[in-house]
Amino acid sequence: MIAQIPVGTEPRACAITPNKKLLFVANYTTGTVAVVDTSARRVVDTVAVGPNPAAIAVTNDGDKDDADETVFVTRFLAEPIPGGPGEGFDTGKRGIVWSFPSASPRTVSTLTLSPIANSGFTADRTAFCPAVAPAPPASDVFCPDVAITDPNSNVIKADPQGAYPNQLGSILIRGGRVYVPNIGAAPEPPIKFNVNVQALVHVVDATARQEAASLHVNLNEQIKAETQPAAADATKTLTRVFGNDVVAIDATRSGSAFFIVSRGGNYVMRAALDANQKLTLNALNVIRFRTGNIPNGIVVSADGRRAYVNNEVNLSVSVLNLETNDVITRDLASAEPPAPGTFAHAVLLGKLAFFTALGVPDNGIFGTPVRDVVPLEHRGKASDNGWSDCASCHPDGLADGVTWIFATGPRQTIPLDAFFAKDNPGDQRISNYSAVMGSITDFNNNARGVQGGTGFAGTPPNPNIHPHGLTQGASDSLDAMTLWVQTVRTPLVPAVNFRLAGFIFSGREVFAAQCATCHGGAKWSKSQVVYRDNPAFTKDPAAGGVPTDPGVNVGIVGAGPQIASYTLGTNTIRFLEPLGTFNPANKLEIRATGAAPLGALGFNVPSLLGIGQSAPYFHDGSAQTLDAVFAAHDLGGGKIATVLTSTQQLDLQMFLNSIDARTEPFPSATDAFLDAVDVN
Ligand code: HEC
Ligand code: HEC
Repeated sequence: MIAQIPVGTEPRACAITPNKKLLFVANYTTGTVAVVDTSARRVVDTVAVGPNPAAIAVTNDGDKDDADETVFVTRFLAEPIPGGPGEGFDTGKRGIVWSFPSASPRTVSTLTLSPIANSGFTADRTAFCPAVAPAPPASDVFCPDVAITDPNSNVIKADPQGAYPNQLGSILIRGGRVYVPNIGAAPEPPIKFNVNVQALVHVVDATARQEAASLHVNLNEQIKAETQPAAADATKTLTRVFGNDVVAIDATRSGSAFFIVSRGGNYVMRAALDANQKLTLNALNVIRFRTGNIPNGIVVSADGRRAYVNNEVNLSVSVLNLETNDVITRDLASAEPPAPGTFAHAVLLGKLAFFTALGVPDNGIFGTPVRDVVPLEHRGKASDNGWSDCASCHPDGLADGVTWIFATGPRQTIPLDAFFAKDNPGDQRISNYSAVMGSITDFNNNARGVQGGTGFAGTPPNPNIHPHGLTQGASDSLDAMTLWVQTVRTPLVPAVNFRLAGFIFSGREVFAAQCATCHGGAKWSKSQVVYRDNPAFTKDPAAGGVPTDPGVNVGIVGAGPQIASYTLGTNTIRFLEPLGTFNPANKLEIRATGAAPLGALGFNVPSLLGIGQSAPYFHDGSAQTLDAVFAAHDLGGGKIATVLTSTQQLDLQMFLNSIDARTEPFPSATDAFLDAVDVN
């Protein structure tokens, strides 16, 4: 008989004790681990750990007693290091792993995973150093040594980069150690494909329950030593394809061999421990197993002869022969993918385009079965040597919690679940904190600029792709990616009891009165491309582009690529709102080029959909909590924290934390504008 055991909200991972008496389930949005008695088939305890528990593992000391084991749980996103440099810096944050004894789950201890100071890659910091920069930098905070006057000094030109552990999505215990692969974040400028994300594996001593910092590795640093294949061969080999998103790990029972999944690279790499007990890929001869599309999980058989890899997009399992290092079957069907030509198939191809660090064809894909699309044949399109992909910073299409120093200034990654209204894809946000882009297609320039790829819209790329440019029809794969982004799901918020529901109801009323004009609307943000007839501009407005249909678009007021407001007749809707959160004197306020940042005109109102799960807040990540938001966010002549009573603030926070896709939204100022001008 099948028992349904309620555990918590958004269960993401589970692990069972060696004799299978207890099952531990990590509840991602509840922030708890449920302890299930497997024979009684019910939850016997619930442990509060902290935000976003993501991966879980239990030790095995080999005896018949399940009461003397230790459970390890990762927190998905990093937290700022107290007293550290903070958001925006390669060494500003740290990873968190919780642990507790299987017999007394409520005694949780927390251990931290440090950033690595030198990821094995360097960056040119010339633009940030006042004494050598060609143009004076807006801030010198990213200059390794402001005293250096020699423009050719390697201290500046080849500054070693760090990276902090982030997106701790898997965990493995072997030989007294805990292995935590993660997508390391290196947000410091410049934005360069090989110093943004790293393929890190952090290591913990399972007995001491402490990080073993000398054993942390950046697998990319090892892959760098591989020989670059000739251009003509590159699309036939995985050699020197970087680790991008390392999302799963397993090993033989003895720990003689480890297998780590590169999701965006469509491969599994084989590693072993070197004489110093560090993971090594044996870089001059890396063994890679090519999987189906978008592998996201691996399990090694008990005898160590086989491994099975789940391929999320291909709905298949790859079977690996670990004795001969061969792939036995790449796509053993686990389910039937949607038929070519269907809408579901197009969405799935869009998911592939978003998650692959290799590539997909620009056009002609809608009739191709998804398993017949071979990203390796399109290597170099999504990124340079498979370095990264959209999902590297947008896990599940959401956000990595990182403040990147980007082209317009310090910018928190924005989750994409509120980019489109779920009930109306025609209702789409103007994008980014500075309202500088107008579609998913515009982001093809990310694949090129940030990820170092050639992109998905022809070589040379379609000239109509630029800020506020072409939105549809640039290529099949970009149209498919647009469709997939429309499906990005907001995590469910845990249900609350009756008493709290009363506070939430009061908070809703405060929200309606104080916040809804800006944060209302189906997307929980008034930001919307309401000016008609996209593409709205002939070319990048920063480069002198004019609205393609001046008769309709003449009311756009912009500053460079920023869309500040739109007027039609006597009605105006403002998109950039200054809120007192921009402080040009803050040293973090600098662009990736070293120039002064955007922000003086205000910011494009962010969505509050799923806000309880997407800290830190603001364009620069300067608020880690809603309390910090309330202290800094203007509201009618004061700050939220001073204008509203403390009861109102408490109710409001309860309401904000409860917003998910099931919450009824409010009309926004844009809805009122559209009603008034009647162009809806
Ligand atoms: C290195 C990390 C990184 C990568 C890689 C990345 N993004 Fe982003 N994304 C960000 C950040 C940071 C922002 C906020 C930028 C801003 O406000 O200026 C953002 C914003 C966005 C937005 C705007 C959302 C909104 O509601 O305003 C979209 C859409 C988007 N990204 C899509 C993509 C796509 C598509 C790709 C792959 C081609 C991609 N991103 C790759 C970090 C990244
Ligand atoms: C005049 C428009 C406006 C009003 C009214 C407004 N906000 Fe905001 N809000 C913004 C803008 C713009 C930002 C982005 C500021 C930044 O990033 O520096 C923001 C940011 C936020 C954030 C952080 C979101 C994130 O993802 O970073 C929260 C939370 C928030 N507002 C809550 C509220 C609440 C609660 C109210 C009502 C008490 C409110 N806001 C009223 C415009 C507004």
